[in-house]
Amino acid sequence: MPGATLSRWTMSYFAAACLMLVVGQGLMAAGFGYPAAAIGAPETLVLVHVVAIGWLSLLMVGALLQFVPVLVGRPLVGGNYAAPALLLLIVGLICLVAGFVALSGAVDLPLVLLPLGGGALVAGFGLVLAILLASLLAARPLPLPARFVALGLAALAGTILLGFCFTLALSGVGAGSLLDRLVADGVSLHATFGLGGWLSVTAIGVSYRLLTMFLLAPEKERPTSHAALQATGLAMGLLFICIAAVLFGLSGETVLFAAALLLTLVAALLYGGDVLHIYRARKRKQAELNIRASFIAIAALLVAILLVNVPAMRDGDGVAALVYLFVFGWLTGLGLAQLYKIVAFLTWLEAYGPIMGRAPIPRVQDLVEESRARILFMLYYGAVAAATLALFAGACGLFRIVVFAQLAATLAIMREFVRARRLSAVPAALRTPAAIVPPNLFLPLTTSRR
Ligand code: HEM
Repeated sequence: MPGATLSRWTMSYFAAACLMLVVGQGLMAAGFGYPAAAIGAPETLVLVHVVAIGWLSLLMVGALLQFVPVLVGRPLVGGNYAAPALLLLIVGLICLVAGFVALSGAVDLPLVLLPLGGGALVAGFGLVLAILLASLLAARPLPLPARFVALGLAALAGTILLGFCFTLALSGVGAGSLLDRLVADGVSLHATFGLGGWLSVTAIGVSYRLLTMFLLAPEKERPTSHAALQATGLAMGLLFICIAAVLFGLSGETVLFAAALLLTLVAALLYGGDVLHIYRARKRKQAELNIRASFIAIAALLVAILLVNVPAMRDGDGVAALVYLFVFGWLTGLGLAQLYKIVAFLTWLEAYGPIMGRAPIPRVQDLVEESRARILFMLYYGAVAAATLALFAGACGLFRIVVFAQLAATLAIMREFVRARRLSAVPAALRTPAAIVPPNLFLPLTTSRR
C-alpha cells in the first residue's frame, strides 16, 4: 500500500470510538433518549452526540489520520497534534454531554459547561482540520477520493461552528437575533452537515480508495465519480446558502434544502453505480467479509436517501427511523465492516512489518476468522433493520429489545477486533517469531515504526 506508514494514535481513536458506540447503544437499550424522550429533548441530544462525535467522528478522524497519506501519497503534516486533538475532543464531548444533562435539569450542573464543551470541541476539531487540510494542501492537485475528503472537511467546519453557536445560545452566554434564528431554524442544517456532509462524504471518499485497494480493482477516475463529486459539492453549496438564508431571515430555505436532498440522491446513486463497477472490475475474485458487509451499508445509504426525499417520510417518527437507518445501517455498518479489515491490517503492519522478508510471517487474512464474524455482521444488520422498523411503527418496547441484540452483536464484533490485536487467530508457529513486538491493545508503541 503506497504511503502505508503507521499513524501512531489511530488505534487509540478507534478504541475511544468503540467505547462510545457501546455507551450510545447501551443508553438506547436502557430507554434513554428518543423514542422514550422527545426528539429534541436534552436526553436525545446526549445520545446523538455520544454517537455522532464519540463514535462516528472519532472513528473517522482516526481513519483519516491513517488514510489521508495513502490517498495523496505523501506523509501527514503535523501528525504530532493527533494526541492533543484526541484529548480535546474527549474532554469537549464530556463537557458537552454534561451541559445537555444540565439542560435537562436531571442533575444540578452549570449550563456554562455547554459552551466550554463546545469550545474544546472547536479546538479539537480545529487541530484535526489543520492537520488534514495542511496534508491535503501539500499534495495538490488532489486525486478524486481526496477531493471528497476535502468537501467532507468543509462540512465538518460548518457542523462545529453551528454546534458552537447553539451552545452559546442554549446556555444564555450568547444572545442576539442571529443566534436565536440559528437555534430556531438551523438544527436540521447542523445535523445534515454533520451526518450527510462530514461523516458520509468523507466516508465515500475514503471508500473509493479502500474498495479499489482491497478488491485489487484498477484505480480509474470515472466520469460518474466526478459527477458524484460535483453533485455533492453543489448540494453542500446549497446547504451553506441555507445557513445564510436562516441567518438573514430570507425565504426559500425549504426549497433549497429539498434541492440539496435531491442532489444527494443523485450523488448516492452515482456512488452506488461506481461501487458496482469497482466490484465487477476486481482482480480478487473472492470478496472478503469487510467488502460484503460494506455493501449492505451502502444499500442502507441508498434506501435512507431515497426515502428521505419523500416529503411524507420527513415527519416525526419517519425521519427518526430514517436517521437511525442512516446512522446505524450506513455509517456504523460501514465503520464496523472497514474496522474489521483495518484493525487486522494495522496490527499486521505493526507486528510483522519490521520482520517482513526476514522471517516467515502470516497473511493479513490469517489475523481474522471470517466464518464467525460473518454471522455477527448478519445479526448486527438484522437488528438494525428490526430497530428501524420498530421506530417506524412507534414500538418503543420492541425497539429496546432489538437495540439490545444490536449491542450484543456489536460487542461480539469488537471482540473480533481485540482477537486480531492479540494475534489470537494466527497459527502458533507464526505468532511469536523472535523479532516480533506484540502490539498494545490501543496505545501506540513507545517507538514509532516507519
Ligand atoms: C460532528 C458531528 C455532529 C453531528 C452529526 C451532530 C448532530 C446533531 C443533531 C442530529 C442534532 C439534533 C438533535 C435533536 O434534535 O435531537 C444536533 C443538535 C445540537 N448539536 Fe450537534 N452534531 C455534531 C457536532 C456537534 C458539535 C461539535 C457541537 C458543539 C460544538 C454540537 C452541538 C449541538 C447542540 C448544542 C445541539 C442542540 C441544538 C438545539 O436543540 O437547539 N454538535 N446535533
